[in-house]
Amino acid sequence: MCGIVGYIGYRDAWNVLINGLKRLEYRGYDSAGIAIVNNTCSIYKCKGKVTDLERYIAGNNVSGTIGMGHTRWATHGEPNDVNAHPHKSYHGKFILIHNGIIENYAKLKEKLTSSGIKFQSETDSEVLVNFIEYIYEKGNINAENAVRLALSKVIGAYGLVIACTDEPDKLIAARNGSPLVIGVGNKEYFLASDATPIIEYTKSVIYLNDNDVAVISKDGLVLKTLKNDQQIPRIHQLDLDIGEIDKGGYKHFMLKEIFEQPRSILDTFRGRVSTDIKSLHLGGLFNVMDRLIGARRIIIIGCGTSWHAGLVGEYLFEDLARISVEVEYASEFRYRNPIITPDDVVIAISQSGETADTLAAVKLAKKSKALVLGICNVVGSSIPRETDAGVYTHAGPEIGVASTKAFTAQVTVLAMMAMLIGRMKNVLSEKKYKSYIKSLTEIPGKIEKILAYDNEFKKIANLYKLANNFLYLGRGYLFPVALEGALKLKEISYIHAEGYPAAEMKHGPIALIDHKMPVVVLATKDSSYEKIVSNIQEVKARNGIVIALVTEGESTITNMADHVLEIPVTDNIFTPLLAVVPLQLLSYHIAIMRGCNVDQPRNLAKSVTVE
Ligand code: G6P
Repeated sequence: MCGIVGYIGYRDAWNVLINGLKRLEYRGYDSAGIAIVNNTCSIYKCKGKVTDLERYIAGNNVSGTIGMGHTRWATHGEPNDVNAHPHKSYHGKFILIHNGIIENYAKLKEKLTSSGIKFQSETDSEVLVNFIEYIYEKGNINAENAVRLALSKVIGAYGLVIACTDEPDKLIAARNGSPLVIGVGNKEYFLASDATPIIEYTKSVIYLNDNDVAVISKDGLVLKTLKNDQQIPRIHQLDLDIGEIDKGGYKHFMLKEIFEQPRSILDTFRGRVSTDIKSLHLGGLFNVMDRLIGARRIIIIGCGTSWHAGLVGEYLFEDLARISVEVEYASEFRYRNPIITPDDVVIAISQSGETADTLAAVKLAKKSKALVLGICNVVGSSIPRETDAGVYTHAGPEIGVASTKAFTAQVTVLAMMAMLIGRMKNVLSEKKYKSYIKSLTEIPGKIEKILAYDNEFKKIANLYKLANNFLYLGRGYLFPVALEGALKLKEISYIHAEGYPAAEMKHGPIALIDHKMPVVVLATKDSSYEKIVSNIQEVKARNGIVIALVTEGESTITNMADHVLEIPVTDNIFTPLLAVVPLQLLSYHIAIMRGCNVDQPRNLAKSVTVE
């Protein structure tokens, strides 16, 4: 969480920083700030969004070619002007922006306070900047060594950009646990939490590793470890286009990303599926296929929407590959002393590849010698770099805080993996395998058809935009989609919503049903169709409002339900890819009608890099 950006070069830093912050705002938007670095250093910061910061600064002289900017998601201290970054040290020599959490900040603060140092804010980040200056002054050392020494005493996670007014021609960057990318230009460098602010200037980037410290001036960069060992920076070329991170004519990133799903799913299977010979190839798993085929158990870990994709994965792997699966919240998994054996396969699912709990769970799983795989979207992010192997989702940058196209891309990868393993284990017949491949290639076209009904979803949204509660019910492959539908609605419209397995409704949620309760029932034609028809009758018998998602051409439920949303026919295993789309659009329209900011819902952040 928190977006950090830095610039050193010949351009007007202010422009680079403010544009960078706008790109990173999805990471946090409680407050924003910028520092232009020179031997006095001017800091501008305020509560609110980047546009509030622009208004706040208007009229000031912000010229300079070195600077840093921050957009915050509060951890320590409420969102206000004082707690906003950048933070200045007590004598004003050091300026710092920070993404992460300093866990031993209380102890450090106590030590500094007892030495007479006064604090302005409630943040752990101010403790760190004061600690750096304290070491600098005591030790009579240069800024780089003071930073290194201070960080060696810090427990916690950080992505940092630091400047020192005594050495105003440099920026110091450091990483432990929170991502940091350096863009390499011609006599200029860019720093950011991810590559999106960098891409319009350069495609050459260096991903910092944990415990890296980089000292950057206009003329060069020196990369070392915290222990002062020199490193050779590895420059990667970004495969990202500036057009991919703009709204492209849509009102919101979320809407754009929902409508991009035919393309993002296609990109996820493109080059991996041969339509002519109907076969599948996942290059990222080539070297670990034997271990996958011999897996005793698959443990899938993730958070939020990625965890929901993992639940779909459970059905897929058990159904198609006959491997027993457990799906775990990464945050629970890592703290409950899990039993993992070397013949287990652990799959971490994460759009950002940076979620702190998922990353920590990956590190834990690696110690057990299990095969650890990643299904991630952001190339070069921390989880793919930690795992033994994996498959990228190729959904393209997802900027809307509520995840949409990442979910369908993750399910696409999970389906391809399950099909491939099932076939190689010979538990999935060649005929079925080929027919699934054909069905998969038809999914983008079917989503196009669903998207064409957007106006219908809007009409239903208009009828129920004022509801206080929603219930989402599904069975089998559609149970995780019910959870995801409910999550989407609460994330962006702030309506309380619950997802439930349809048959469990009678063990509790049925008590909530009355004439004001919209119940979204995912009722496509599959093996549990008859059962779900009964569940709908149970809702109707209690005067509930049924919004049924059905297979096109269906008539029984259509006659019983108050409203129907239709999706095209597909194989049972692919219904999550289709069924989730109307639910995403329903949530989107309800949130817009309630006046909510769908791309930046309150209190949320896209990339949760704190525990
Ligand atoms: C945050 C986001 C969710 C996302 C979750 C996991 O909570 O708001 O949309 O599903 O993190 O993120 P990941 O990047 O690991 O998929």
